[in-house]
Amino acid sequence: MTTPVRVAVTGAAGAICYSMLFRIAAGEMLGKNTPIILQLIEIPPGMKALEGVVMELDDCAFPLLQGIEISDDPNKGFAGANIAMLVGGRPRGAGMQRADLIKINGPIFEGQGKAINDNAADDIKVVVVGNPCNTNALIAMHNAPDVPRQRFTAMTRLDQNRAMTQLARKAGVGVDKISNVGIWGNHSATMYPNFYDIQIAGKSADKAIADEAWLKGDFLKTVSTRGGAIIAARGASSAASAGNAAIDHIHDWVKGTGENFVSMAVPSNGEYGVSEGLIFGYPVRCDGKGGYKIVEGLDLNDFSKEKIKATDAELSEERSFVADLLK
Ligand code: NAD
Ligand code: LMR
Repeated sequence: MTTPVRVAVTGAAGAICYSMLFRIAAGEMLGKNTPIILQLIEIPPGMKALEGVVMELDDCAFPLLQGIEISDDPNKGFAGANIAMLVGGRPRGAGMQRADLIKINGPIFEGQGKAINDNAADDIKVVVVGNPCNTNALIAMHNAPDVPRQRFTAMTRLDQNRAMTQLARKAGVGVDKISNVGIWGNHSATMYPNFYDIQIAGKSADKAIADEAWLKGDFLKTVSTRGGAIIAARGASSAASAGNAAIDHIHDWVKGTGENFVSMAVPSNGEYGVSEGLIFGYPVRCDGKGGYKIVEGLDLNDFSKEKIKATDAELSEERSFVADLLK
């Protein structure tokens, strides 16, 4: 009998989790042969709604779902967890930037980092979704000194997926023809989807599309402001697509990417001149054994270097705002 994987999820009664949990329980994240136990974490006002979510999970009779535990105590919620998906936190409203959430959401990740440090399994892998996700992941990482730093990541996969669809549409191909999408830097308006390295049916995007003005203009703008466009249209921030991206992130981290590269925000060791210690979006490859590596040897032109510098400056500033939460 395979040992179940313990998946801890915060914000479990919220909008993102309402689509994400059911797909995890159905085996879309870890595969159809991997049993799981869900450890669902909320704050006290969310517990009643969470009980309703649990009833619905029960009512799906998912064969892989071997248990559901709920708690408003992160120490219990993260106990023995192999995967932690930190979704809980306030979403932004119209007219706000994600960084405006830092003082509200940042402190959540101090306590959760400590709880992961003290209670999670040795192989814990963490993805932070709650915004501003890069800096929240930084806070959690600093508060978990016993956990290897590279286990703390933030989600830029939604930006990757957004970029893939925009490029596929412009090139008149299916999204399956788009590969090697690296979203550099912050999950914010300064993010940089480096189209010079993205491949479209075997050609770099700038060659396949041959419209650099569109790539530098509408393409970058659409991808980097998509979250705000969704808030303006729906009156609420992206939820199903965010849950989908979190599933993709963990799926590829656990199962591996082969030679293709994907986007994850991970601790920087100064690769490509980025400030050391930031949780920075990079193109990575995952080995399918729990490890990943930032893709090496990419040739960045001056335009890319400028973009990366700008997003680095923004993340460095966010880091300085939360200095009191960094141990
Ligand atoms: P939501 O308001 O619907 O749900 C958030 C849930 O988190 C609520 O149920 C709330 O009770 C819970 N919560 C708050 N503090 C908590 C804590 N300390 N511990 C556990 N649970 C807690 O919001 P949502 O739409 O699900 O979005 C959640 C977060 O994800 C927001 O910060 C949003 O901005 C972010 N987000 C990130 C991305 C991304 O690409 N990185 C995409 C979409 C949304
Ligand atoms: C998104 O990109 O959709 C999320 O980060 C939500 C937001 O605030 O934009």
